[in-house]
Amino acid sequence: MEIFKTKTALKAFIEPLKASGLKIALVPTMGALHNGHISLIKLAQQNADIIICSIFVNPTQFTDPKDLEKYPRPIEHDLAMLEEAGCNGVFMPDVKEMYPEKETWQIDLGKAEFLLEGEFRKGHYQGVTQIVNKLFDAVKPDVAMFGQKDFQQVLMIKNMLKHFNLPITIITCPIIREEDGLAMSSRNIHLSNVDRKNALVLNKSLQFVVGHFNEYSLSELEDKAILFYANIPGVELDYFTIANGESLEPAKSKEEDNLVALVAAKVGSTRLIDNVIIK
Ligand code: PAJ
Repeated sequence: MEIFKTKTALKAFIEPLKASGLKIALVPTMGALHNGHISLIKLAQQNADIIICSIFVNPTQFTDPKDLEKYPRPIEHDLAMLEEAGCNGVFMPDVKEMYPEKETWQIDLGKAEFLLEGEFRKGHYQGVTQIVNKLFDAVKPDVAMFGQKDFQQVLMIKNMLKHFNLPITIITCPIIREEDGLAMSSRNIHLSNVDRKNALVLNKSLQFVVGHFNEYSLSELEDKAILFYANIPGVELDYFTIANGESLEPAKSKEEDNLVALVAAKVGSTRLIDNVIIK
């Protein structure tokens, strides 16, 4: 497995491979890797010949400086996991390499940018699409892998691709969970033992909606799901919504064919998100 710190070194590795007709996949990450990330590498291997994983804790997508500061960076562990997964190259630039100068450009990501996560993390998706655009430009992949775990992020990246008319196929990978149902996340290590148990409420409330979808109306489903969060000390719900999977607007009818339940909650001091595609 090759490691690259600069775009120039990365390009020198990729260009001859591309020229020889090999298909390149990019798996963008911020490191602190877990089996959710590794599942993206594995799916990438089924869809391309050469897998490049990027590890870059992108400052422009953090809205809380403390969150950026405490973001875990276990780089040796990450590299060992990627090596074992059979990743071909790792791109781990420093901040200056990706942002030589301060950048203020913005792109139109559509109305959904400002809903849900966009409401709680102002400017987050400008930062995400900015760095993903730079990574796409550095790697010029044929395919790129993203997790459904960050449902809104995938939508925003697809909107960014349309905006720039980039010929890259986006593959969305299913959410990988711990045995008890908690969605894997780099932030889970910040959970105390009590938080870790309380965090199960996210998946439980989502599963409730799926399991009782035919029994109740949309607003009853939402109300009952929200009740799961009442009386759990230390858990603060940001939103629980059943939304249209394209617009992210609240679903108007159970008959819509693209419905997703999305949740964000603070568990202790850790903010977690999760979702389930209903149909
Ligand atoms: P990060 O949070 O490191 O996630 C990297 C990729 O792994 C994302 O596509 C995310 O959706 C996926 N992922 C995370 N947890 C997962 C799980 N439990 N199951 C399946 N996939 C999972 O998302 C980012 O980094 C950044 O915003 C990034 C796209 C790299 C831009 O900086």
